[in-house]
Order: sequence, then structure tokens, then C-alpha cells
Amino acid sequence: GKVAVMLGGSSAEREVSLNSGKAVLCGLLEMGVDAHVFDPAEQPLTQLLAEKFERVVIMLHGRGGEDGSLQGALQQLNLPYSGSGVLGSALCMDKIRSKQVWQSLGLPTAIYKIADKRSFDAGSCKAIMAELGNEVMVKPAQEGSSIGMAKVNSALQLEIAIQDAFKYDDKVLIEQFVHGSEYTVSILNGKALPSISMSTPRVFYDYAAKYQADSTVYSCPSGLPDALEIMLGELALDAFDALAGSGWGRVDFMQDKLGRFYLLEANTVPGMTEKSLLPMAAKEAGLSFAELSLSVLATADV
Ligand code: DAL
Ligand code: MG
Repeated sequence: GKVAVMLGGSSAEREVSLNSGKAVLCGLLEMGVDAHVFDPAEQPLTQLLAEKFERVVIMLHGRGGEDGSLQGALQQLNLPYSGSGVLGSALCMDKIRSKQVWQSLGLPTAIYKIADKRSFDAGSCKAIMAELGNEVMVKPAQEGSSIGMAKVNSALQLEIAIQDAFKYDDKVLIEQFVHGSEYTVSILNGKALPSISMSTPRVFYDYAAKYQADSTVYSCPSGLPDALEIMLGELALDAFDALAGSGWGRVDFMQDKLGRFYLLEANTVPGMTEKSLLPMAAKEAGLSFAELSLSVLATADV
């Protein structure tokens, strides 16, 4: 039957989603699937029924596509969709809730504070810096692709960064910066794919480092010793499972100078662009982009 590849949407990650969605459409067509694009910013969801779509591949990133609301709507329309359900999508979209769940289960994640737009007191910035250390990441609770994020090292910078992050979300995560290397583990059908390590000469792995800069260095395989690679894969699966993630996804980590890993966040609709990480890990595992696209579609059937 007909498959809709949902892409675009109206989140801050629209551009990324258009690239992910188009790539997956091509992959599915290559595999002989009757697939068509569907942009929910351009037409109502009921059009999915009118056009007799039978399954949906969600390639929308960010709020409105990756946060559980679309998943709930598709469920109401009785349309099978790829990836995580309502709860997993909602939890993974929210970096603060994710950390609260992980903490409660004893899974490692950096210490943090929360700023709430309704009660934020700029006077607290000094105490926050004193508690978290002199380098801190500021992140809107529910965003992707590093949008609205900043790395700061003074109380004044912290205040400015929090005010900026409030443009994206009423809740802002203020997290201790972990010095070291960034790693990511992709997940497909309950299995961890080879880890990737990323490094950038930029201040952090931001939007430009992710999609624009040629200076980002990716290593896959990441070079971790076998035992550590297995441990990191299991940690990723546990962390994803703890947030009710399912089907496919990607869990991001920092590793400090002592070799300890800290969970950053989980993504339920990881990027599938030319520069994205999950396709890189799949390739290392012997899966072409077209085969990967078909595997993502297959998560709609379970
Ligand atoms: N949020 C982007 C698309 C990612 O995680 O790859
Ligand atoms: Mg994310």
C-alpha cells in the first residue's frame, strides 16, 4: 500500500527535516516502495486518509512531529507510523524530563539546573555558575539540532543565554559542561549500531558543525576498545528503553577525560540527511541508506 513520508512541518528544524525526508523518500523508492511526501505544514492530516495512505514514515524533527502529538493523532486515525509511540516521543523530546528519568534509575547524566520562564530570577545566575562549575551548557528543554543552545562561562553570559533559550521554550536546561569527547549510538530494532565519535574546532557541536561546517570530524568506528563499545551500546539501549523509546533512535553522550560517559539526550527521529550520524553508523554495520530507510518503515509494522 501507499506510504507517506512526512517531512517539513513547522518546527525550527524544518530545513533539516526536508533533507531527511527527501533522502528517505529516495531510499524507499529505490527499494520499490510506493512512497510519497506529505508536509503537515501544507495540508491537514485527514488528507492522509483521503489519499488512502496505509502507513506513515515520520521524518519530522522537533516539536509537532517528534514530540508525541503527531503520534497520538495518527493513532486516532488508525494509521501505523514509524518509530516511538506517544510516551517515548514526548519523553525523549524533553531533555529535562529525560534526565529526571535517567537520574531516578541511576543512569549517568551531568548535573543540571532548570530555569522556568514564569519564575526566572536573573539574580540566581551567579549561584548556578558556582554550583555547576565555570563552563555550562544552556539548552531549551524541547529543541533539536542544537537550536537555541549556548555554552557559557560567566553569570552574565548565562543570563543572556537563558533569555535567548526562552524564545524556544518556557523551560530551559542548564547543564554542567563535560570536557572530553562526544559520542553517539544509533539504535535500530532493539540493537545498538557502531558508535560514532564527533569532534569540532567550534565551541561545541552546534547547528553549523552538524550541517554546514566541513571541519567536523566523524569517526566510525569510533575507536573505543571492544568492551567499552559493548558497554556504551548497552547503556544507550537502557537509556532509550527508560524513556519508552522504540523502533529506531539515537542516544548522544559526552565522555569525560577520565573515560566516564554521561547521557545527553535521546532522539526518536534522528537526522537522515547526507551529514547525519545514524546513516553513517548503519553503513558501518553493512546497511545501505535504502535498506536503512526500509528498516525504518518496517518499525511501523510492529
Ligand atoms: N535533531 C536532529 C535531527 C538529530 O538528532 O539528528
Ligand atoms: Mg535532539
